[in-house]
Amino acid sequence: MCGIVGFIGKRQAAPVILDGLAKLEYRGYDSAGMAVFDGEKVNVTKAVGRLKVLEELTHGGETMPGTVGIGHTRWATHGVPNDVNSHPHCNRDKTITVVHNGIIENYIPLKNKLLKKGYDFVSETDTEVAAQLLDYYYNGNPLETILKVLHRIEGSYALGIMFADHPGEIFAARKGSPLIVGQSADGCFIASDVPAVLRYTRTVYFVAEQEVVRLEADHMHFYTMDEEEIEKEPTTIEWDADAAEKAGYEHFMLKEMYEQPKTVTDTLLPRLKKDRIEIEELGMSDDEIREVRKIHIVACGSAYHAGVTGKYVLEGLARIPVEVDLASEFRYRNPILEEGAMVIAVSQSGETADTLAAIREAKQRGFAVLGIVNVVGSSIAREADHVMYTWAGPEIAVATTKAYSAQLIALYLLAVKFACVKKTVDERMYRLLLRDLKRLPDQIELLLNNKEKIQHFANRYIGARDVFFIGRGIDYAISLEGSLKLKEISYIHSEAYAAGELKHGTISLIEEGTLVAAVLTQEKLYKKMISNMVEVRTRGAFVLAVTNEGNGDVKRAADYVIYIPETNQYFTNSLAIIPLQLFGYYISVGKGCDVDKPRNLAKSVTVE
Ligand code: AGP
Ligand code: GLU
Repeated sequence: MCGIVGFIGKRQAAPVILDGLAKLEYRGYDSAGMAVFDGEKVNVTKAVGRLKVLEELTHGGETMPGTVGIGHTRWATHGVPNDVNSHPHCNRDKTITVVHNGIIENYIPLKNKLLKKGYDFVSETDTEVAAQLLDYYYNGNPLETILKVLHRIEGSYALGIMFADHPGEIFAARKGSPLIVGQSADGCFIASDVPAVLRYTRTVYFVAEQEVVRLEADHMHFYTMDEEEIEKEPTTIEWDADAAEKAGYEHFMLKEMYEQPKTVTDTLLPRLKKDRIEIEELGMSDDEIREVRKIHIVACGSAYHAGVTGKYVLEGLARIPVEVDLASEFRYRNPILEEGAMVIAVSQSGETADTLAAIREAKQRGFAVLGIVNVVGSSIAREADHVMYTWAGPEIAVATTKAYSAQLIALYLLAVKFACVKKTVDERMYRLLLRDLKRLPDQIELLLNNKEKIQHFANRYIGARDVFFIGRGIDYAISLEGSLKLKEISYIHSEAYAAGELKHGTISLIEEGTLVAAVLTQEKLYKKMISNMVEVRTRGAFVLAVTNEGNGDVKRAADYVIYIPETNQYFTNSLAIIPLQLFGYYISVGKGCDVDKPRNLAKSVTVE
């Protein structure tokens, strides 16, 4: 999600910016840079790599004198991480400088328009388009120019902007990405998040959606998109620095769970153009899609679980046979890949050794690979033939939540797109599917706001030794992920089972008080699932059921029921997983485990 810091006031700006960016490092980034006005011109220093590189390049800021500046740590979305794509970005004569957090969805048409007007670009980023567009519309009035540009930008942004011919002010604007401004006796600040300014001030203003701020050394002015000046009340931050990094949440995992509505939105909306699914990065024509005879999904851990869901959705909607492999198995089982096969690798980090080896195996056999990846420029992103990014932003907690949810969305989009091209769903069904996809963020939010109920239930199972998650069809895939979430952060043994498989041995483990989480969101399988729930309950199990609103029958076979809102049968994983994430989280917290950094685990398994 990157970081923005700006300062205008009595102090040297560069050290303030470096210090602020350091406080935002937890947000994850791949490069850093800053621009400072030295009294005559704007100097820019930027480089790929850690913030330390920028500190060394500028001798801790000493090589960039001046009391007005903006800085940035980049989490690449458009353009691989390198020096040129790092922020700040400028217009040709470096009189306008921009740092940006977010995605300009319509940057390609805007860029084409500017190219036709004789502009040239040095980077691959969407952000540079904003800098050049400001130049194109610049009329000497920064605020007017900024508003004109913002009215033409689609997507999300938190912006810091400097105009060399207006050195007494810097500007900030936001839509969809977080941004705050602050004030102290020394000057005024822009930042992506509170930790960046806490050392200097606890008086901050949370910039609201589509507000623009003009900051002078001793004053700030807030404007609407209609250039109307508004008054805002400051907030005094009571958090300490550590709490502030988590935006007040106790753990990054909880913060990232609550980011899931945004994660789903950010992954979904850029691929819905006028209510049609357009996945430009897929690099496949409709004819090529029609030629796909089989799909192999390779992944590890939660990404594998997303792939199992993907199997049900792709087969169910697009009627394409799908094989899902653990990447660590795929690479050694001499897989049979036939003509017309497509390989999809799913990976949050894009660095998982087994998944990387699996795509190399596929490519070696002459098969193209589509990567569903969260980290731009990661190894898997670079080696895959096509990449569909999940745009979940950096995920700090080892246990994935928001990236997993974004992986599901990417797989749903592929399935609905392929189904539409192959005409395995009609136009009416297509529109219903799109409608239900667009509803998911609000429905996830609704479930997240139900956390107290889950917390109360979880507290009763902190002492559990064995927990079983059971489901049929897509609900089995949900059970896999629900079980892993519990295991990896609470260290309680848990197993996910295809519910119909229980009686083939495992049911012997069920005894008085064993907790069984039954996921039943597939209406046509309700009755079968209820029989399985009765089976385990008569053997002493305590049954937690996760099911659709309206499924009243379930009460007779469950001790505790969590309902999820109505959605298409293929999308229920995105909703049912929320209470299961919360369940694992609260059990882990109750046990006093290190939720964000569970023992023995790494965020990215870059070794075999
Ligand atoms: C999930 O919570 C774990 N962090 C782990 O299973 C993870 O999903 C797996 O290691 C795959 O990582 P990747 O998505 O970065 O490839
Ligand atoms: N989309 C911009 C880029 O890729 C900004 C990314 C960010 O939020 O850091 O450079």
